[in-house]
Amino acid sequence: MSLQRFGAILKAGLTVVYSAMLAVAVYGYTDIELIPGKHYRAQDVQPLHAVIRKYMRYSTAATSFVDLHKGWASCGLACISPDVQDVVLNLTWHIDAPLSDGLIAVHPRDKEIVVAWAGTHRYRALITDMSVLTLPYIPGTTMGVHGGFLESVRGVEDRVRAHLRKLAQDYPDYTVVFTGHSKGGAEAALNALDVARSIGGIKPRIRVWTFGEPRLGDSEFAEFYNRQLGPVTYRVTSMADPVVAMPPMFLFNYCHHSLEIWLKNDQGDVYVAQNRTECFEDSNASSSIDFYDRSVKWHKNYLGLPPPDHAAALFSW
Ligand SMILES: *[C@@H]1O[C@H](CO)[C@@H](O)[C@H](O)[C@H]1NC(C)=O
Ligand SMILES: *[C@@H]1O[C@H](CO)[C@@H](O)[C@H](O)[C@H]1NC(C)=O
Ligand SMILES: *[C@@H]1O[C@H](CO)[C@@H](O)[C@H](O)[C@H]1NC(C)=O
Repeated sequence: MSLQRFGAILKAGLTVVYSAMLAVAVYGYTDIELIPGKHYRAQDVQPLHAVIRKYMRYSTAATSFVDLHKGWASCGLACISPDVQDVVLNLTWHIDAPLSDGLIAVHPRDKEIVVAWAGTHRYRALITDMSVLTLPYIPGTTMGVHGGFLESVRGVEDRVRAHLRKLAQDYPDYTVVFTGHSKGGAEAALNALDVARSIGGIKPRIRVWTFGEPRLGDSEFAEFYNRQLGPVTYRVTSMADPVVAMPPMFLFNYCHHSLEIWLKNDQGDVYVAQNRTECFEDSNASSSIDFYDRSVKWHKNYLGLPPPDHAAALFSW
């Protein structure tokens, strides 16, 4: 926050109180308490909305940054927000085969290390071009993960891990947040799980925020994921987003991991899904929407993000 803005806030006593309350949630990582199986009205979950917008901006920035190839300063509307303005980029990657792009940023104000994976611009690719065949998550087990996502993540993971290992040491009190929209959400969750299992002591610092994430693996994998990171994962879905319903469950036993936070409508009312440990998709959350009633417009609308200029230019069905 700039000094001018801070000064303006100090002038108005009422505003100070309001900002202080919000500051708890927005500045510095604070877990937001949500009760599984409960419905919330938008006005009662403003801190949750603020956090969703913040990580959606990172996710959008990762995606558009990649496309523009012009640097962090050129990630358009995504970077205008104070949420991501003063972050320090530590690593960006752009790999053609297996396709993967993303960034690691350090944000001193919020005491966060953020790993953002870029989404795809072609959602159909999730079930056509990319390999939906599952590969064993751990060699020798039957636990299956989407082959395309596994290859993308493993293709760059040594580099990401090397940077994270160093950053985690240099910023010992920072939270490590994995985030991404669409394909990027699946890759972020997978990367978080790998990192939790391979960097000693980092697991309690990990949080995962994904948006419009397609199914990542089979039911056995979902169960494994939930045991490891379920309690610190927020899988945000928007109304009738079709990407969230892909690949279909009948294919290779695909199943979502926990914990689904469903944005139920334009206003941003929320339903927090139940968080069972096994393969369980709450039928009262986004899976209550029939596949044929879904529309990709919802994949482009997570509380109004990604911004329309990006949505128009970069996202196609
Ligand atoms: C990334 O972070 C590491 C660990 O703090 C640091 O040594 C390195 O210089 C950083 N690189 C960039 C490009 O900021
Ligand atoms: C489910 O939520 C409760 C708190 O509401 C938490 O204690 C528990 O660890 C969660 N379980 C999973 C698998 O996320
Ligand atoms: C869905 O909601 C209805 C009505 O509140 C409830 O009776 C039912 O148990 C819920 N189903 C699940 C799977 O939670």
